[in-house]
Amino acid sequence: MFTATLQLRGARAAIALLAITMALVAAPPGWCQTAEKADDKPENYPDGPHRENTFYFCTACHSFKLVSQQRLNRDQWNETLDWMQEKHALPKTEGDGRKELLDYLSTAFPAKARAGWRNPFE
Ligand code: HEC
Repeated sequence: MFTATLQLRGARAAIALLAITMALVAAPPGWCQTAEKADDKPENYPDGPHRENTFYFCTACHSFKLVSQQRLNRDQWNETLDWMQEKHALPKTEGDGRKELLDYLSTAFPAKARAGWRNPFE
């Protein structure tokens, strides 16, 4: 009887320990993301007019990698900005502001020559 209780305790302790270990392993490495964000800067991307303002404008909400992994032509970039204005509260850019963003985006991350699906990681 006494032994049985002890064994039960042991099992509970083991389960608790396992849960703690799993929580630690599964926890997202927050410091990792922060480090990546802090490291990211306009100089990491193709040089060109309006690089800095495009970078800071877009990174207000998300990583610039989300931007740089896209390959779009000018019209498609324009549509992407319209879409983000509508769906994601992107501050409105008009006239020269929009033109400058599109100048940089369509030069630095242009559409690939042939249409069709492309591996975004190549
Ligand atoms: C006000 C916030 C905000 C700003 C500023 C912003 N975006 Fe976004 N963007 C979003 C959100 C929200 C998403 C959706 C994220 C997701 O799907 O994970 C997104 C997604 C994207 C995507 C992915 C679209 C897809 O098809 O998956 C691209 C490309 C993009 N943004 C480009 C830009 C560019 C270029 C700029 C700067 C000119 C910019 N964003 C600035 C909010 C913003």
